[in-house]
Amino acid sequence: MPHVVTERCVDCRYTDCCAVCPSDSFFEIASPAMLVIDPNVCMDCALCVPECPVLAIYGQDDVPEPYKEWIQKNVDLAPTGKVFNQKVDALATAISLDAIHEREKSRGWDISDPPS
Ligand code: F3S
Repeated sequence: MPHVVTERCVDCRYTDCCAVCPSDSFFEIASPAMLVIDPNVCMDCALCVPECPVLAIYGQDDVPEPYKEWIQKNVDLAPTGKVFNQKVDALATAISLDAIHEREKSRGWDISDPPS
């Protein structure tokens, strides 16, 4: 079960995740501005999950329903990006986990954070 980066990452791109990845699974893409995981490279170690400040990464079987489209998006987008494996500054548009929760609530979504 590979791990999946969800929409929570879009326009945040904190990059804490890729710095702990032992297999260079993360790829940077420009549109949308985020990192995604190549499921063919991910070793499923889950080290990245607690590192993300907005808890954007879920195991494939744990992806909440409103974010399920991101399973295929990671598959499709990873080959279009370039390997990214170091911590850099977050995007200027990055928001907090509280703000993410508020946005999800405003959409009528009741989303659990990834299990730790
Ligand atoms: Fe995105 Fe979180 Fe990594 S915001 S770049 S999945 S640390």
